[in-house]
Amino acid sequence: MAVFHSHSEEETAAWAKDYAKSLRRGDTVLLEGPMGAGKTVLAKGIIAGMGITDAVTSPTYAYVNEYGDVFHFDCYRIVSAAQAYGLGLADYFGRGGICLVEWGENIKELLPDGAKTVRIAGTGDTREITF
Ligand SMILES: Nc1ncnc2c1ncn2[C@@H]1O[C@H](COP(=O)(O)OP(=O)(O)O)[C@@H](O)[C@H]1O
Ligand SMILES: [Mg+2]
Repeated sequence: MAVFHSHSEEETAAWAKDYAKSLRRGDTVLLEGPMGAGKTVLAKGIIAGMGITDAVTSPTYAYVNEYGDVFHFDCYRIVSAAQAYGLGLADYFGRGGICLVEWGENIKELLPDGAKTVRIAGTGDTREITF
């Protein structure tokens, strides 16, 4: 495990952009950490690092936003595996793209083996990224 200390949103996004270079098609990355820690900032950086120039927003209504072959999940409001299956969320993991998952703990049963984890935590502008 390695740790990166970030002192701003921009530094976190830049770190994520660089981290994106290590990802391959079929990878799932669990973005973990408390509310407001910077999971969506990480996702935005990773998506930018994949060369995607679309504006990235937090997935809300549909739980997943698609950017080409990159799928960004926010499962905060998912309450059961059955609900997740019903929404078709399981299908994304078999599509050979890259899945970035916030609140993956809420869809544990659906997550593929071998998922990578990036954890972010901290207070103020200083965040610790563990990967
Ligand atoms: N070092 C940092 N890294 C990431 N975000 C930071 C940092 N410092 C402050 N922030 C702020 O923290 C918030 C993180 O929000 P967000 O990424 O939506 O959190 P999450 O998706 O984990 O709930 C943003 O408002 C961002 O500007
Ligand atoms: Mg978020």
